[in-house]
Amino acid sequence: MLRRVLRPLAVAMLLLQAAPPVLAQEVLDTDPNTLAPSKDPKRTANGLAQTPPMGWNSWNKFGCNVNEEVIRETADAIASNGMKAAGYEYIVIDDCWHGTRDANGFITEDRTRFPRGLTALGNYIHAKGLKFGIYSDAGTKTCGGRPGSQGHEYQDALQYARWGVDYLKYDWCSTGVRNAEEAYATMADALRATGRPILFSLCEWGNSRPWLWGEKIGNMWRTTGDITDKWEGKHGYSWGVASIVDLNEPLWPFAGPGHWNDPDMLEVGNGGLTEAEYRAHFSLWAMMAAPLIAGNNVADMTQATRDILLNREVIAVDQDPLGVQGHRVTRVGKQEVWVKPMADGGRVLLLWNRGDKPTRIVADWAMLGLPASVKMRGRNVWSHRDLGQLSSSYQAEVAPHDVIMIVLGGESSI
Ligand code: GLA
Repeated sequence: MLRRVLRPLAVAMLLLQAAPPVLAQEVLDTDPNTLAPSKDPKRTANGLAQTPPMGWNSWNKFGCNVNEEVIRETADAIASNGMKAAGYEYIVIDDCWHGTRDANGFITEDRTRFPRGLTALGNYIHAKGLKFGIYSDAGTKTCGGRPGSQGHEYQDALQYARWGVDYLKYDWCSTGVRNAEEAYATMADALRATGRPILFSLCEWGNSRPWLWGEKIGNMWRTTGDITDKWEGKHGYSWGVASIVDLNEPLWPFAGPGHWNDPDMLEVGNGGLTEAEYRAHFSLWAMMAAPLIAGNNVADMTQATRDILLNREVIAVDQDPLGVQGHRVTRVGKQEVWVKPMADGGRVLLLWNRGDKPTRIVADWAMLGLPASVKMRGRNVWSHRDLGQLSSSYQAEVAPHDVIMIVLGGESSI
């Protein structure tokens, strides 16, 4: 009798014990990847940045020493020195603008550095026909130790929109075990919820391969650690220009209109490189369809710096609407040949001498995937000279660490 009573009880208890594994199985059956926002086929980025973003950012030159005067002087310079007309549009305040959070958790600006406040600064920038960019971080603190946006994403996005912000660079310090894709998707949603078009720049240094998931979240993603004003090599957490190129180049298939690989901001004009090296730096960024975010003191530029940053023919290569990132087609020792296809059917050819001696570099049409019989008009976009009709190959002597950049067009057969 006792057995008859106890047995079903034991079975019931066993069933109860069995319940948790059944539930656990159900949970496991839901693939967490299907819940990740960027895997949602309906998710799209914001439609901005159909060509690589152009502008200026305070970090490379001013670091943490930003203030209202620096930003106003920069906006004045860009509006009047030809940069605005050449396409430089966003004025971005990087780290260290932040004050504390107010009693309701809203971020405030540092009123010692920005006494008139960011609304007034945004108005000033907009009145010049330029756009206003700002910086935050997906962790608890920015890299400069200011308050980060973790747990305040929607509040911060709302505050930026109130200030009239048009661009957010979002860094990756103090993020602990946060999942990068989730963290960036949360801020993308918060920005979208403001109803204001805000270009979203992911600054996660390439750690979680943002080129694989960033397209539906933002408009550009850093592919590397920080750039430094040196030619090559790794220097602490930073990389020289030529080394950044090697890291960013293989990612060319992931770039396109609205979503760009970002090999970091320009060092042109900051004084650490030769004129040839800065010319190579700017040309390679244009070949890689990289965002052109100047990082020098634009209110005080040499003519040589001006000639590089304002070279409209090189900028046109960067800004070509086809939006295909150019890449290296041959590398022999220190000689490289690069090609970028253009919307009009033309191609841009870059000869890059990474070595320390002048060298002759030959680019065969075969490297461009063309038969030798094809004729094309050539134009050197640094000397601003037409080269007439070219066929089968182009070759030139290239100075050390320098480039020769040729736009080829009007293809015809001999
Ligand atoms: C990181 C970023 C830099 C810059 C600094 C600011 O290092 O990669 O581009 O924004 O933080 O602290």
